[in-house]
Amino acid sequence: MQKNRICELLGVKYPIIQGAMAWISNGNLAGHVSKAGGLGIIAGGGMPPEILRAEIKKAKSITENPFGVNLMLMMESVAEQIDVCIEEGVKVVTTGAGNPGIYMEKLKAAGIKVIPVVASVALAKRMEKIGADAIIAEGLEAGGHIGEITTMALATQVAREVSVPVIVAGGIASGEQFLAALALGGEAIQVGTIFIVAHECDVHENYKNLVLKAKDRSTVTTGNYTGHPVRVLNNKFSKTILELEEKGAPKEEIEELGKGKLRLAVVDGDVQNGSVMSGQVAGLVKEALSCQEIVDKLMNELKEEKVKLDQRFSTITF
Ligand SMILES: Cc1cc2nc3c(=O)[nH]c(=O)nc-3n(C[C@H](O)[C@H](O)[C@H](O)COP(=O)(O)O)c2cc1C
Repeated sequence: MQKNRICELLGVKYPIIQGAMAWISNGNLAGHVSKAGGLGIIAGGGMPPEILRAEIKKAKSITENPFGVNLMLMMESVAEQIDVCIEEGVKVVTTGAGNPGIYMEKLKAAGIKVIPVVASVALAKRMEKIGADAIIAEGLEAGGHIGEITTMALATQVAREVSVPVIVAGGIASGEQFLAALALGGEAIQVGTIFIVAHECDVHENYKNLVLKAKDRSTVTTGNYTGHPVRVLNNKFSKTILELEEKGAPKEEIEELGKGKLRLAVVDGDVQNGSVMSGQVAGLVKEALSCQEIVDKLMNELKEEKVKLDQRFSTITF
């Protein structure tokens, strides 16, 4: 029987990756996802190197299974963060916000698998060429910073153009969507929003409650105007930003207003004045569960939905 390439590459049981979530996915969450058989990822974006080291140690205290670190390449301390990852024996690095090219040799020499997050075919091809071990194709349904193409349209175009395995991200929180990701050409999924409400996720309860209450149309995209689109739950903060964008306020003013707002929601629980990043699938996230329950539910639903799909498929005449 052929083995799943992502499970082989990452040394995990299930092809489920918990996507990095700035301020949210710490060593505790990542450790518990990895313990549950997926791949947890610590969001390194903006984290001082010594804090990152402490979060890596925290994840190691929870599980011996591999976990990853996400590096936002525009950040000043990224070179030091990479040193920390190497010293601590991190097995996987996902990258965003820039080109990992200059760090590739060092990361690979340390035996670290490098998996960039991309929102276009061109970038996917460039990343494969410089040695990416896999590609995360993320559609605009995802929470947080997003691109311009839907998961449905992007994943297949990327999968047809690269030969490394593709991980599909954006808009996945159920067995149906997991199955669809495989049908689109993916070999694994990356999910974020579904883990916000995990028992082991240390985000403020107010944040979790807003995600649990969300419906299909509860998210909006701010920042199209400044060129940095971000998907968030609709609240007072998003309304203010969208009004300013509508009025054509100076971009610097809008960018300034956004500073520190994710932290305000995640840490202080101010979910009206803060930025509550979440994906469109929040409407499907109805109950708080443990990481193990979330991973098991996804895997069980995947199997069940495959059976239902085969039944629906068999009704079609060719
Ligand atoms: C609150 C939040 C913060 C995020 N922060 C990051 C980040 O720091 N780096 C990154 O590469 N992706 C980030 N993402 C994207 C996730 O890693 C993941 O790809 C995405 O959530 C998948 O789509 P979904 O939200 O529909 O599950 C974030 C997503 C959310 C919801």
